[in-house]
Amino acid sequence: MTCACENHSLDPIDLSLLDEVLLTYKDQPGNSIPLLQKTQELYGYLPRPALSRIARETGIDESKLFGVATFYAQFRMEPVGKHLISLCQGTACHVNGANLIEDAIKDELGIENGETTEDGLFTLSIVACLGCCSLAPVMMIGSETHAKLTPDNTKAILRSLRREG
Ligand code: FES
Repeated sequence: MTCACENHSLDPIDLSLLDEVLLTYKDQPGNSIPLLQKTQELYGYLPRPALSRIARETGIDESKLFGVATFYAQFRMEPVGKHLISLCQGTACHVNGANLIEDAIKDELGIENGETTEDGLFTLSIVACLGCCSLAPVMMIGSETHAKLTPDNTKAILRSLRREG
């Protein structure tokens, strides 16, 4: 399956990417959540035209699908940047200085939680526990975990990713 989220999240939507997902889940009972999850894996978020096509082809009411998509925190309705930063603000990270890390990210990138940098490189998402509390404070960038963060090493990580483009 082709993944469109890595480099093309800001490109026009290619709805043919949904073919395989629809084929797999179209007739399964309780398919709303898996359909949305797979769609988000493809595009990095849930584009409205994709929700419309899913509704058309499954018979699920579009407003119901939209309601599910906006109810669950795991789903994103806006495109994300090339690097999705998931900064943990769970208890362990919070007491170990996650606020300072959050400030460092915001300072370095000039974005708030949920926003994407103008160059489309970074999106900041504040999340709850990432499940590796002993490494607090922690953030994930894409699938990579960055542990024991300080404001300085956080900025260094972001600068290095920016240099890579
Ligand atoms: S609280 Fe941050 S990883 Fe658990």
